[in-house]
Amino acid sequence: MDPVIPSEYLTDHLGLLLDTAGTGPVLDLACGAGRNGLFLAEKGIEVHFWDRNEQDLAKIKSIARSKGIMVFTRQIDLETGQGGLFPSDHFSLVMVFRYLHRPLIPEIKNAVLPEGIVIYETFTTRQAEIGKPSNPDFLLKENELLEWFTDWEVIDHQQGRLENPERYMAGIIARKFQAKL
Ligand SMILES: C[S@@+](CC[C@H](N)C(=O)[O-])C[C@H]1O[C@@H](n2cnc3c(N)ncnc32)[C@H](O)[C@@H]1O
Repeated sequence: MDPVIPSEYLTDHLGLLLDTAGTGPVLDLACGAGRNGLFLAEKGIEVHFWDRNEQDLAKIKSIARSKGIMVFTRQIDLETGQGGLFPSDHFSLVMVFRYLHRPLIPEIKNAVLPEGIVIYETFTTRQAEIGKPSNPDFLLKENELLEWFTDWEVIDHQQGRLENPERYMAGIIARKFQAKL
């Protein structure tokens, strides 16, 4: 995976994501070297990068400095079991790519503003047939993403085999309903 090329799932839906991202801060969760968040930050979006890896976060800051863009980084272990890591109703868009820690799903959903979006893409159980990751804790089951978002509007859902390189992934773009008055 090239660290600077954003996910095709993100670029394929860029118009929709930019429209939503313009309404509030964006979170690139478990951002790694920031390929997805930096792509949006370069377009003038306020992106927050969260990861436990300090070196990656330092790299993101350095790239941002060299390009004259503002970024917000937070070094955080997302798997301590503590709740309250996320602000409520705060982000216009939460992006999660190639990371899975199931206990975070309710918190991620709660962190999104009404009418905000989650874009989530990661490997499925079939990935274990061809390589890594192969630990089922890190692999989505068939239709699992749809099950997480039964109470949201599902804008797009895909699952299956992708090429170059071969991999099995699922992705979802889901929008939180507007708050009831
Ligand atoms: C496969 S990388 C994906 C990075 C990025 N989302 C992308 O698609 O390029 C997984 C990321 O999850 C982060 N990560 C793994 N466990 C974590 C934890 N407990 N807390 C915070 N970040 C974690 C790793 O540091 C790594 O950057």
